[in-house]
Amino acid sequence: MELRKMLITGASRGIGRALACKLADCGEYRLVLHAASQASLAVTESMLPQGCQYDVMVCDFTDQVATHQFIKDLKSRHPDVYGIISNAGINRDKPLIYQPTEDIDDLLNVNLRVPVLLAKMAMKVFSKRSEGVFIAMASCVAETGNAFQAVYAATKAANNALCKSLAREAGVMQPGCNTRFVSVSPGFIETDMTGQLANDTKAKYLQQIPSGRFGTAEDVAAAIKFLLSDEASYINGTEFKINGGLV
Ligand SMILES: NC(=O)c1ccc[n+]([C@@H]2O[C@H](COP(=O)([O-])OP(=O)(O)OC[C@H]3O[C@@H](n4cnc5c(N)ncnc54)[C@H](OP(=O)(O)O)[C@@H]3O)[C@@H](O)[C@H]2O)c1
Repeated sequence: MELRKMLITGASRGIGRALACKLADCGEYRLVLHAASQASLAVTESMLPQGCQYDVMVCDFTDQVATHQFIKDLKSRHPDVYGIISNAGINRDKPLIYQPTEDIDDLLNVNLRVPVLLAKMAMKVFSKRSEGVFIAMASCVAETGNAFQAVYAATKAANNALCKSLAREAGVMQPGCNTRFVSVSPGFIETDMTGQLANDTKAKYLQQIPSGRFGTAEDVAAAIKFLLSDEASYINGTEFKINGGLV
């Protein structure tokens, strides 16, 4: 059986690491794991089953020059990629009036510019192969908005719009092509990103979750694994929510 190649950005922690482990466990995929630094991927690598085939690529996405080189390397090393999971993300929560321009630029670079560049590569590579799945990481706050996350929420809403648009674009440019563009919107997931929040803020969120618990990285990884599979072949150009009912 030919292993399908999957790129996961931000595979060193949280949702990305859980997804890498889940995909590695089923033995159907060859992985390309990305993180901001080589060292941060060590834990993920140690958790992969023996014999798992993977490559590692490192890039700090706040650096546009390094990102340009990363995309170039990705195209030459992995032109046969089947799935691109654009997962790496940052939050930098602050009232907008106090947010330094550097923070705003970092949010736009990591959470939006990079997903757009990866999606552009996906459009080219997938159309050549007539197949492929692109997953962009959005968030529940894309729909609701959130105080102190204005730029973050805006970048996440843009990821939803990106996938909806590209699914339609692929349908026009290559009708019947087996390519899909789906955004994933997690609710409150326990990772480093939410670990920074104050306990009373967490308690307020918990009250709003009908399922009565925070999500885990594995909850999101399981949903993405499904979205990457042929069983999800009719899920395209839409936002997939994993939030325990959080509204
Ligand atoms: N957790 C939630 O509740 C939640 C909810 C909605 C959406 N999301 C989204 O889900 C995705 C994953 O979130 P998470 O909670 O798993 O986050 P996380 O635990 O903080 O992990 C973030 C990942 O992104 C990478 N990353 C961070 N800054 C980077 C940079 N400058 N350049 C390249 N890579 C960078 C990190 O790599 P290093 O380890 O090398 O820094 C790490 O692998 C994000 O897009 C996030 O916005 C999360």
